[in-house]
Amino acid sequence: MKLDRLVAKHQSLGRNKARDRIAQGRVEIDHLTEIRPDREIDRFHKITLDGHIIQPGARRLHLMLHKPAGILSATTDPVHPTVIDLIDDPDARTLHLAGRLDRATSGLILLTNDGRWSKALMHPDHKVPKTYLVHTRDPIPASAIEAFSNGFHFHTEDITTLPAALEILTENAARLTLHEGRYHQIKRMFHRIGNQVTALHRERIGNLQLTKNLPPGAWRHLTGEEITAAYSPSLDRTSA
Ligand code: URA
Repeated sequence: MKLDRLVAKHQSLGRNKARDRIAQGRVEIDHLTEIRPDREIDRFHKITLDGHIIQPGARRLHLMLHKPAGILSATTDPVHPTVIDLIDDPDARTLHLAGRLDRATSGLILLTNDGRWSKALMHPDHKVPKTYLVHTRDPIPASAIEAFSNGFHFHTEDITTLPAALEILTENAARLTLHEGRYHQIKRMFHRIGNQVTALHRERIGNLQLTKNLPPGAWRHLTGEEITAAYSPSLDRTSA
């Protein structure tokens, strides 16, 4: 929304009168005088006119959470506990998830009330990498590396999965990096090579790594630097 529109609406003024007040230097955004009537604002800006608050400015929240297995990646559910239930913040109900995990999967979940940020991070065109630690029922053959890199055709959606980087760690464990997030994608990929995922844990999204000392169920605010760096066009996508 433009600043003059907010001032006009709040004061029940015409747009021209609102513009006059702004031009007179009577409006502040986040404690700084703003004289441009067409300045874009959002609900996170604190806005005053003659020192009186006309918009308080919502708290902008960005969190990382260590989702334990068994907790739902949802904001509400009539039966099961959700990740939101783990967040003891008065504004927890304003949060949405930047990407989900299956109920049995553990690891990094990002939550925010900043739709622009989550949209950029999750946009399919941006192909932000997500890294998982996978444990399997049967040994993972070396041939799986090429199979995952070539991609699998999923008949239901009629798509071929993007090249995924598989690093075999032990007989039954691997680190897998995807650049997309299809329904049950990892389970389905392992199923296609005749194997089964027994445990799945997300370690990383873009430039954000799940903090080592954050136990399952715990969360923390992201730093300003992390918020900016979470998604950057310089992320290495050449392996995709
Ligand atoms: N792939 C899956 O199968 N499950 C997840 O939770 C994430 C990716």
